[in-house]
Amino acid sequence: MTMQRDADVTPPVELEPSDDQPTLEGSAAQPPDVSRISILEPDEPRPAPPPGASEDDYRWHTYRRFPSGRPDAVKFVDTYKSFGSTQVLRGLNMGLPEGLVSMIIGPSGTGKSVCIKHMVGLLMPDAGDVLVHGKSVPKMKDDDLFEMRKKFGLLFQDGALFGSLNVFDNVAFPLRQHTEKSEEEITEIVMRRLSEVGLAQDVWKAPNELSGGMRKRAGFARALVLEPDIVLFDEPDSGLDPVRTALLSRLIADVHEDMVEEAQEKQKPYLPTFAVITHDVMTARRIGDFINVLWKGRIVEAGPSEEMLNSDNEFVRQFLAGEADGPLSMD
Ligand SMILES: Nc1ncnc2c1ncn2[C@@H]1O[C@H](COP(=O)(O)OP(=O)(O)O)[C@@H](O)[C@H]1O
Ligand SMILES: [Mg+2]
Repeated sequence: MTMQRDADVTPPVELEPSDDQPTLEGSAAQPPDVSRISILEPDEPRPAPPPGASEDDYRWHTYRRFPSGRPDAVKFVDTYKSFGSTQVLRGLNMGLPEGLVSMIIGPSGTGKSVCIKHMVGLLMPDAGDVLVHGKSVPKMKDDDLFEMRKKFGLLFQDGALFGSLNVFDNVAFPLRQHTEKSEEEITEIVMRRLSEVGLAQDVWKAPNELSGGMRKRAGFARALVLEPDIVLFDEPDSGLDPVRTALLSRLIADVHEDMVEEAQEKQKPYLPTFAVITHDVMTARRIGDFINVLWKGRIVEAGPSEEMLNSDNEFVRQFLAGEADGPLSMD
């Protein structure tokens, strides 16, 4: 696997040292060396606010990105997207480091789901670029787009199961649709994934016989059967009580760990990258290796969780602590 950074497409606001970066594994064993964390220098030009916005609107956007020590599996480069007069992405620079569980966290209506749709090419940017494993999604021809989408596993809020199919057939569906595997092989894969998410006893049930949490887990199993390189979870915690949210978070983290091991064993070209979209701070704190704080169409600050949870940025601190007092108001 190449760990070369795609320096030529690194946007100017992402200031990362190009060599000898601390890795997450390294920082777990020893405290991060603060002098190695790149931040905007005092004389570094800060990017201008987006057209129509004031400096004041973006005063909490430091645009700092603490290094992850990894290449980005998905990368937004100065991405703009509007719907009519609603500007959603306003010069977004964001990366999801390969092999990590990243969080995209931000208030409701900030454009988190719009981000996901750009990653899989369901929406195209008005300007700027979106790169998946270094390839530009908006520049892809239809055939390449189709192939690129196979890299992704998607988990939507309700699991998005087919109501007329039982759990087994729901999870088997992508394998029957996209592979030539025998029913024997399919059964092996489906049962392995359903056991992993704790649904081995529920294979013959219809979706309407499952609880909300079980439907999400069935959707999770289905998202994994094609061995995706990138798995996107859009608010997996919505509609779950705190305990089930905690259990689902742990399941996501455990499955990611297993998939990393498997990818290393099989020497796959890419380590599995997970992106979890949430407005729930607890979920972000619990499982995020890397946290992107999205607000007003741009990343306020991003970095490995340790750095982000200790950020001196008042906005980031307030947001990640879930406190009422601070710069973030209800407007
Ligand atoms: N297809 C669309 N057409 C028009 N407006 C849209 C569309 N998709 C999203 N939006 C708008 O973009 C903004 C961000 O939406 P979304 O990404 O769903 O937010 P969230 O961060 O809660 O996931 C919202 O104001 C939403 O109304
Ligand atoms: Mg959303």
